Amino acid sequence: MTEAVFAGSAEGASPEEAGLRYEVDGEIATITLDRPDKRNAQTFATWSALARIGDSLPQQVRVVVVRGEGPSFSAGIDLRMFTPEGVPGQGSFASSATLGDSAFEQRIAQAQRGFLWLRRPDIVSIAAVQGHAIGAGFQLALACDLRVLADDAKLCMKEPALGLVPDLTGTKPLVDIVGLPRALEICLTARIVGAEEAARLGLAELVVAPDDLAGAVRDLAAALLAVNRDAATATKRLLQGAVGRTLEEQTAAERHEQVARVKALFAGS
Ligand code: CAA
Repeated sequence: MTEAVFAGSAEGASPEEAGLRYEVDGEIATITLDRPDKRNAQTFATWSALARIGDSLPQQVRVVVVRGEGPSFSAGIDLRMFTPEGVPGQGSFASSATLGDSAFEQRIAQAQRGFLWLRRPDIVSIAAVQGHAIGAGFQLALACDLRVLADDAKLCMKEPALGLVPDLTGTKPLVDIVGLPRALEICLTARIVGAEEAARLGLAELVVAPDDLAGAVRDLAAALLAVNRDAATATKRLLQGAVGRTLEEQTAAERHEQVARVKALFAGS
């Protein structure tokens, strides 16, 4: 049974401003960016609401699907944030620019919280991307562990073209996946990466026809859920640590995780 858990409000903003829908169905949570008429543009309220979902995720959830309603996954930051008036109740970049550096960085850190939890080892997050994923939209897709793209998907890291840097946790996964030269080229030209190229670069695990997107994500979630939960968590932790470790450290980490697994399976501890 699907349970509507959270309407998506954030302090100082109405649920409509947060623009999210959140449902939990057994082991699968689905977060839907739900302002299709504004191409699911994101605000500080969206990011606070995302962080709150992460904080209160029911323990049984193992797969988190992030999707967008309508023709676009997300057109990125709500461009009203760049106007002097900003978004009602949430201010603007102009008002944030008057903050001290540390207070401003703290505000960005709050926004980043909405993206960081999607990497938690106890869950696997899947972005289901159709149409445009621009700026914060691309970074939200990059914050997820896996990406399933409709063949009309268009990814774009627009921030440098607007005089900004990508700061919503997207730079590390982008470099990890495509390498530094390609990441530089994608970001500094702010060009669109189509679905086919995204698959070639490793930015998509799967590309399907738009009508097949929901079904492909459902199938992937089902395959992920068929694996032992604790083994999945331990394996994700192991794989996530691999890049930063030497071979010696990684093999030690494998031993450590396996001892815990074997004991849990055969000694009941
Ligand atoms: N913010 C607010 N509203 C947006 C929006 C955004 N980012 N993107 C689209 N909309 C609104 C449009 O203003 C329009 O509203 P109205 O109907 O009220 O006029 C509605 O959504 C539909 O937009 P389009 O008619 O443009 O739809 P489209 O399908 O033809 O084009 C699009 C889609 C290519 C995404 C285009 O809307 C677009 O280029 N949007 C802006 C993208 C952008 O520059 N985003 C910022 C990226 S940078 C970032 O995210 C991070 C950062 O800076 C820190």
